[in-house]
Amino acid sequence: MSKENPRAIHLKDYRVPPFLIDQTELHFELGEKATLVKSRLQMRRNPASGELDAPLELDGDADLTLRRLVLDGKDLAPGDYLLESDTLRLDGLPEQFVLECVTLIKPQENTSLEGLYKSNGMFCTQCEAEGFRKITYYLDRPDVMARFTTTVVADKDDYPVLLSNGNPVEEGEVSEGRHFVTWEDPFPKPAYLFALVAGNLERVEDSFTTASGREVALRLFVEPQNLDKCDHAIRSLKKAMAWDEEVYGREYDLDIFMIVAVDHFNMGAMENKGLNIFNSSCVLAKPETTTDSAFERIESIVAHEYFHNWSGNRVTCRDWFQLSLKEGFTVFRDAEFSADMGSRTVKRIEDVTLLRTAQFAEDGGPMAHPVRPASYIEISNFYTLTVYEKGAEVVRMIHTLLGPEQFRAGSDLYFARHDGQAVTTDDFVAAMEEASGVDLGQFRRWYEQAGTPRLQVSDAYDADAKRYTLNVKQSCPPSPGQDRKAPFHIPLAVGLLDAEGRDIPLKDGATTQVLHLAESEQQFHFDNVPCKPVPSLLRGFSAPVKLSYPYSRDELVFLMSHDSDGFNRWDAGQQLAVAIIEELIVDYRAGRELKLDQRLVQAYRQLLADTGLDPAMVAKMLVLPSESYLSELAETVDVEAIHRVREFVRRTLATELRDLLLEVYRRNRSDGPYTLAAEAIARRRLQNQSLGYLMALEEKEVLALAQNQFENADNMTDAQAALSLIAHSGFEAEAAAALDAFYQRWQADTLVVNQWFTTQATTPRDNALETVRALMDHEAFELANPNRVRALIGAFCSQNPVQFHRADGEGYRFLADRVIELDRLNPQIASRLLTPLTRWRKYPPELSAQMQAQLQRVLAVEELSRDCYEVVSKSLA
Ligand code: TRP
Ligand code: ZN
Repeated sequence: MSKENPRAIHLKDYRVPPFLIDQTELHFELGEKATLVKSRLQMRRNPASGELDAPLELDGDADLTLRRLVLDGKDLAPGDYLLESDTLRLDGLPEQFVLECVTLIKPQENTSLEGLYKSNGMFCTQCEAEGFRKITYYLDRPDVMARFTTTVVADKDDYPVLLSNGNPVEEGEVSEGRHFVTWEDPFPKPAYLFALVAGNLERVEDSFTTASGREVALRLFVEPQNLDKCDHAIRSLKKAMAWDEEVYGREYDLDIFMIVAVDHFNMGAMENKGLNIFNSSCVLAKPETTTDSAFERIESIVAHEYFHNWSGNRVTCRDWFQLSLKEGFTVFRDAEFSADMGSRTVKRIEDVTLLRTAQFAEDGGPMAHPVRPASYIEISNFYTLTVYEKGAEVVRMIHTLLGPEQFRAGSDLYFARHDGQAVTTDDFVAAMEEASGVDLGQFRRWYEQAGTPRLQVSDAYDADAKRYTLNVKQSCPPSPGQDRKAPFHIPLAVGLLDAEGRDIPLKDGATTQVLHLAESEQQFHFDNVPCKPVPSLLRGFSAPVKLSYPYSRDELVFLMSHDSDGFNRWDAGQQLAVAIIEELIVDYRAGRELKLDQRLVQAYRQLLADTGLDPAMVAKMLVLPSESYLSELAETVDVEAIHRVREFVRRTLATELRDLLLEVYRRNRSDGPYTLAAEAIARRRLQNQSLGYLMALEEKEVLALAQNQFENADNMTDAQAALSLIAHSGFEAEAAAALDAFYQRWQADTLVVNQWFTTQATTPRDNALETVRALMDHEAFELANPNRVRALIGAFCSQNPVQFHRADGEGYRFLADRVIELDRLNPQIASRLLTPLTRWRKYPPELSAQMQAQLQRVLAVEELSRDCYEVVSKSLA
């Protein structure tokens, strides 16, 4: 860093804004060289603020050029205000006034993708969290809510479509082939929900009739070549609208709901009022180019952004420390929606896998922070798995503690009480508490304390008294700034299985009981237990904790086939595989011969042979714990050992179960035309899982199966699965040929090309880094496009552990080079790429030293962004 280091912002310093904005009128003159932005703000002093003669401090940005400032109709001279690089200050203002401001900006030079920028020739905005200040001087904070009227003026041929929030109220032509549209949004909103789009876009139109009979126009705007990829998003949107009415009683509130797809986007999508803007990868889909997983992801993101209309827009955040108020709640809502649309258990398995792999790692690393952080340097760094996924788990626990009816009552009270307001996570919890009468006092610690709690469970059975006792100890490791943790209120869902694997009836005849942990050690008694049971603990993953109980491998096998809780049946399989792999890692490091525990082979054999099982569950249960998850569990990560042992287990399973795998592959091979039905998706997963194991055999015969599937697939799920298996196999010539053919076929489709980059970046081959370096010069690579960066650089550094962590440290140097390069273009993306380096404490000394050295290199960069400065300095601290 060059100047002094950036300063942290603290929650405890929150003050209500001294000024409010009632009405915001914006006028954009979009141009090829520059864009002129005129704003007219009706402002007044905030009666709730104690600072009666406070100066007005508007947020701005070094890239804004101030052209004119007018107070109540009078032009101000430079001596009348104080202009600093990112603030504009005015003193001695009256009770109320109108401030007009003209700024000049250069969207075509804006590579940060925050504020107003251009993507493939179209203008678009991204204002969350603090991008609006790159458009004009403003009170850019979520507790300042105004009614917006926006006029967009642009060349009519190049930008026939001009959009902003709300409803169009006027349009017309102006001189020199230019036209305009004026939009009015009747709902007061913070600036982060503002949006503008101008481009040459095609549109797909549909409509939705709300429960109360209002007709809403649904419009999806895309570049012309993407018109055939809109159906799925529209269908998903309509399902989400109906679901929110049914489950939460929430209707849409404007006459138009618009979605725009753009190629250059920092995140997944953005919930701007009435005008959602999506990363094209999170909205566009058709079977030939889109995998099943991507279809599912799109459905959930479309729903997520739609759900924000209530959880985020109608009721918004008071300040950015409250981000999880909208994100945690909305992720919980979209997860429940997806669970209702498909398989609840499979959805839960997927979410918990992400949480345990990536969020637990975050919570145990140098950037660990509470769901409601107490301070930040750059808020963009806090759009994290903790705020989103752990935040959703916290809402889920409230749901568990209250039960569905009381939870709905709490949500009704929350929306009714706070509609139109900017509030806190505490307001949310208070509404839940008041509507249900459940005391959530201690529960609030989930918002305040970082770190993943540990539960240590032991048990005892008294045969004479027929009494079973669980003893539970909880603890939570220290995290930055929090050495000691107070006990959490944890809902622990348990069941007890008898020797036949049946649920033993518990209190009130229920088979699952939710225990309330509140102390650091507690005992729970179960009476009338006829025999010593096998406990099924943390059913449905009822709390985001790490639980340990001394299961024997036989007990895990037993739970795998008998637990009535589908999630725990899957988890027993995971625990069994983890135990076996961890023991083999010890053997591998000691140079002993590796021998696979036959219990795993037997368990897999049963899964494959039993045609009565749900194929979706079988497909999930056949997935071994990932290298990242095994790394998260390890004290010190031995990247090489984890990779070798996991490959050994895969190959051994394939060898022992070869015929069965072939049969399952053939049986589940899609015959009819492609459909997105859950059953069809499950079969494709099972088919491709089987093929994956078989490919570990490195047999020509299996290669031929994969090649045949690759060449004849009518859908991307099968084509992509075969491609990556061939590309990552030992058959080098065939791998090269398949990658080549794939590019030739799909080069015009940027989303498919992203997958092509990722497939190569994740190869286990020793030339992976060289391949990635070479691909950076490929005609299709573009450093200014975050999807490309994630597909190639991000995938290599975070999804290819063996190659990224090569002993010579070249992987680390490569990442630091890219971060330094990208930081000048797009600090948000640069900062996110850093994550794998920040985990240096988990690696052996040789690697760890090289990782730190690269972080030091980044820290030494002059003019390093606040984004990267925060991540690097905190991870080295
Ligand atoms: N609010 C968006 C969501 O639904 C997140 C988001 C989109 C975002 N674009 C962003 C956050 C840019 C920060 C910067 O999750
Ligand atoms: Zn969101």
